[in-house]
Amino acid sequence: MDLTVNTIIDSKKCIGCGLCIKVCPYETISLVDGKACVTGENSLNCGHCVAVCPVSAVRVTTLEPLKTLSFGMENDWIKHGSDDTGHLVQLMASRRSCRNFKDMPVDRNILEDLIAIGTTAPSGSNSQEWTFTILPDRTQIEIFGEHVLTFLRRLNRMAQVAPLRRVLSLLGKDELEHYHERYYERMEELITNWETKKKDMLFHDVQALILVGATKAASCPQEDALLATQNILLAAHAMGLGTCLIGFAVVALSRDQSIGKALGLARGENIYSVIAVGWPDECYHKIIPRKKIMPRYTNLNS
Ligand SMILES: Cc1cc2nc3c(=O)[nH]c(=O)nc-3n(C[C@H](O)[C@H](O)[C@H](O)COP(=O)(O)O)c2cc1C
Ligand code: SF4
Repeated sequence: MDLTVNTIIDSKKCIGCGLCIKVCPYETISLVDGKACVTGENSLNCGHCVAVCPVSAVRVTTLEPLKTLSFGMENDWIKHGSDDTGHLVQLMASRRSCRNFKDMPVDRNILEDLIAIGTTAPSGSNSQEWTFTILPDRTQIEIFGEHVLTFLRRLNRMAQVAPLRRVLSLLGKDELEHYHERYYERMEELITNWETKKKDMLFHDVQALILVGATKAASCPQEDALLATQNILLAAHAMGLGTCLIGFAVVALSRDQSIGKALGLARGENIYSVIAVGWPDECYHKIIPRKKIMPRYTNLNS
């Protein structure tokens, strides 16, 4: 983890209010002669100090301002509790997995904005070690799809062999049996449709994919990538786009290293989500409820 201090404080501007010191999680800053000074040897580089300073006296040189290309936004912080919660939750609940897309490309500025939005998510130790790979058109998606299909064909050939499934189950490895029960038939149909070019059941004929990953330098790579993913899904909905997570492509990438190589992934980089992004050719009227959940309240004994 890189804890290099990149904080610069303009002592002429500093009024010595101490707010940056209070919010700093690493004690990077302290007050010296009534002015904020960098005295710590480590920094999380989270930028709390920049965000809190009332006179813009602090900079963290490695942090870039959030710039969006396809829409405008204010850079002022929205205070706790001052936004419309009902509307936010309505947006969250309105996001649906989209499996019908228009034959219309997604502008690269929009795809890049989605990635910038992804990076507003939290990350373990603020590592921000996520990676984003864009497949911006059908040609790229179809080449990637061929790699995934090669994996799926192999998996289905294995799952076909009943004695193999039985032996693995006896050894306590029942994944193949489970796969056979739940997915085998559907995958056969998907493979046939792909080969005959009838229908793309893998990526739903979408026009762009975003692959979200993380490098081994991240302390919580999977969590980081999935939090960025959820931001992308919600923002895409707000921008008029439909999205769908493609789980089988993630499985293929995790089991067959050659696919990552073809995509140019770095060593130690893993993909945790594959997001189909396109203009939706479906529309809903209602928000769908979820299964009832019962939270657990703890009653711990000391
Ligand atoms: C990890 C994960 C993997 C998924 N993989 C696929 C997939 O390969 N293909 C697909 O059509 N939908 C996929 N989905 C979408 C789910 O089927 C969908 O989220 C679920 O049915 C709930 O519907 P909603 O997203 O519209 O609320 C996936 C979702 C998740 C969270
Ligand atoms: S928040 Fe700004 S003004 Fe206040 S002590 Fe820190 S640098 Fe100085």
